[in-house]
Amino acid sequence: MQKSISVSAPASVSNLGCGFDILGFALEKPQDKMTVRNNNLNKLRIKSQNTNYPVPEDPTKNVASVAIQAMLNKLNIQQGFDIEIDKQIKPGSGIGSSAASAAGAIFAVNELLQRPFKKKQLIQFAMVGETIASGCEHADNVAPCILGGITLIRSYKPIDIIPIDAPGKLFCVILHPKIEIKTSEAREILKKDVLLTDAVKQWGNVAGLITGLLKEDYELIGRSLDDYIIEPQRSKLIPAYDMLKATALNAGALGCNISGSGPSVFALTKGYDAANKVMDEMRKQYQNENIDFDIFVSSVNQTGVKISES
Ligand code: HSE
Repeated sequence: MQKSISVSAPASVSNLGCGFDILGFALEKPQDKMTVRNNNLNKLRIKSQNTNYPVPEDPTKNVASVAIQAMLNKLNIQQGFDIEIDKQIKPGSGIGSSAASAAGAIFAVNELLQRPFKKKQLIQFAMVGETIASGCEHADNVAPCILGGITLIRSYKPIDIIPIDAPGKLFCVILHPKIEIKTSEAREILKKDVLLTDAVKQWGNVAGLITGLLKEDYELIGRSLDDYIIEPQRSKLIPAYDMLKATALNAGALGCNISGSGPSVFALTKGYDAANKVMDEMRKQYQNENIDFDIFVSSVNQTGVKISES
């Protein structure tokens, strides 16, 4: 049996505005790096390698080891692994940091065990890891991180993941204000009930967004991104969100919304040049806010988690 493997697992944008917990896509960068090795101790051991973004080394508190344990339980085997995590995706940034750890680890172990599961089946185990970060199982980051591209979770029970081809000219600007929002806390503030009038608008947008993606109709994608349910409740957690969104739209973005549970904000564009223009305007706007931030452009990553050089 192969003894060791190194993988990289990409960041991802989830929700895509109207699709809370059901839509997401993978980004080209940043990517977590991980090396997983067999050990003879029947134990899962975590080593956190990036001191800037340390991860818990207690295997019961780390999304990667919890996901691996779920897979080992399903296989009914005992096997130890050493998991070295070089975390490059800042935890609590809203671009799927915990999902990348869970997805990378589960993909690596599946390879070392000579692929007992297909890629799509790995999602169920990565979701168990995600529970630690967000307090509930959701797959809108782990699914695109594992499969690449855009993914729709049509159903959770039973799990039904539908990959959707990304239009070729779709680009994304990510602005990450350097404050931390814990997904579990951003979920706790959400009301449990939804007005029927809002629900009607929302499912119209979800259907419009999927149709826009399939038909490569960029205008339709843009006008379908609005979120009537989650964005009004969470946007107040992100400094100057309304102004930032208005700036992105004025600069030509198809749409702009919260990435996952925030604080990162994403704007979609048709084409790379348009993305750079939107990025420049968002950067100028946010420089007035006295908040440290990162900003970058990415296309949709079609590959997802992959084997890398050790
Ligand atoms: N769909 C999740 C949420 C993504 O918005 O809470 C965050 O990980």
